Amino acid sequence: SEMHTVTLIPGDGIGPEISESVKKIFAAADVPIQWEEVSVAPILVKGKTTIPEDAILSIKKNKIALKGPLATPIGKGHVSLNLTLRRTFDLYANLRPCRSIEGFKTPYDNVNSVLIRENTEGEYSGIEHEVVPGVVQSIKLITHEASERVARFAFEYAQSSGRKIVTAVHKANIMRLSDGMFLETCREVAKEYPDIHFDEQLLDRACLHIVQNPTAYSDRVMVMPNLYGDILSDLGAGLIGGLGLTPSGNIGQHASIFESVHGTAPDIAGKDLANPTALLLSSVMMLRHMGLTGKADQIENAVLSTIAKGETLTGDLGGKATNSQFTEAVIKAL
Ligand code: IPM
Ligand code: MN
Repeated sequence: SEMHTVTLIPGDGIGPEISESVKKIFAAADVPIQWEEVSVAPILVKGKTTIPEDAILSIKKNKIALKGPLATPIGKGHVSLNLTLRRTFDLYANLRPCRSIEGFKTPYDNVNSVLIRENTEGEYSGIEHEVVPGVVQSIKLITHEASERVARFAFEYAQSSGRKIVTAVHKANIMRLSDGMFLETCREVAKEYPDIHFDEQLLDRACLHIVQNPTAYSDRVMVMPNLYGDILSDLGAGLIGGLGLTPSGNIGQHASIFESVHGTAPDIAGKDLANPTALLLSSVMMLRHMGLTGKADQIENAVLSTIAKGETLTGDLGGKATNSQFTEAVIKAL
């Protein structure tokens, strides 16, 4: 079949070793992908952090990237490279599903939620200033345009995945103008999808409800502004065992970047102890996005059945296996 080139950003800390796991499993499964590996070590241009040009060109050309964790430098002049990537490529929808993992027990059994996060604006607009000493202002930017495209993405996703309900999550009772417009835009878009039920939920209610009754979210797609999605998606990950188990995809018109959302775990980096599951499941999401559904199913089943068996779990899941041992077990299960 046709060969695809995909940009690989291994990332920092445990990034290179979990990327190695993906590469080995893809090779074993004969996935028709060749990797173009780039580093995004931060560079400072005119006092601002940015990404090396060759990484940008690679993603522009290939339109698809897989990315490990990147350390976010803290301090003046530094902006998160994760955000820089999302902004550079206008990756407007962040797809974050959460499904209970058989073989890893949590107090929550049947979680199967899908959260779609607006990924370009809101509190992440990066527009902040000091009004007078001791008083600062951070602007939460909401546009009709960005709200509309993410709402449409949510309805399209619901339609193609067979989910029956789209729920807009908001605080329009407080953020009357910004969330008000987000919500109103979702209502407008909902009219174009008469076969999908649309409803609305306040963010705080949604948090309360999802921890009390996560199964109520199995049949729906939640869509929400950026910061709410950041927070609620971590809450969802918490229900199933953490960020080491959840995939994420940043989708745009001209490029998409699939990434694990967990950190760089510097304490275990280089020790072959990391769990590659989040990056593997993100790469599965990537394969589906590319239309390589058969390979996606094959790899996903192998990862999930390996965890379900419970013989080669990494430390974060209560086991003693190394990343390499887990990876070998997945390859056997392909
Ligand atoms: C995420 C992360 C990022 C965010 C950080 C690393 C900038 O928490 O992808 O959820 O806040 O969006
Ligand atoms: Mn986050």
